[in-house]
Amino acid sequence: MSTHVEPTIESSAEVPNTPLSLAGLVSALNAQRGRPRLEQIYEWLERAEITREELEPYLGFKEGNYWRHRVCRNEFAEMLVLCWRPGHRTPIHDHNGSHGVVRVYDGVMWETIFVFDDEKGLSYKSGRERSQGEVTGSDIPDIHQLGNPEVSGQNLITIHIYAPPLGVLKTYKVGSPEVDLYTPDDSQS
Ligand SMILES: [Fe+2]
Repeated sequence: MSTHVEPTIESSAEVPNTPLSLAGLVSALNAQRGRPRLEQIYEWLERAEITREELEPYLGFKEGNYWRHRVCRNEFAEMLVLCWRPGHRTPIHDHNGSHGVVRVYDGVMWETIFVFDDEKGLSYKSGRERSQGEVTGSDIPDIHQLGNPEVSGQNLITIHIYAPPLGVLKTYKVGSPEVDLYTPDDSQS
């Protein structure tokens, strides 16, 4: 194995090839010396085996909107746990230069994908349901909306990793060419 390290934005840090607890995921992210690739994050989250006990400090729901709980963040990546009551959903957004992967920990998540055309604006492309244990990735510049369907009858818990960490997001409206900016809401009420 070469000991020479190429300067690159991609990460080469090695992560053990075993099931990853929440602490294991944090270690993997903290070991990075560059932005982890989408495929790499996907693989980590597919391999994750996270107990309810580990997740407990990051569980909490509020009424008006989904609640974002940050687990860790460094210059290359961040991990969040999102807690959604039925009916909670994101605006239609892209990640403004970050890629990200979501794993459904508990509940049902609806994901809707959109396409943007400079002249026609935003239009619907497809929708999918993701259930417990499923993992889904979004590359740059995917435009999507995530949510816990109103009719699910249950809370939704999702685990998210973004690289690099999310900053200001771009938001869209169906049928409109307008693009707005949006800062995710981390407030506790
Ligand atoms: Fe997103």
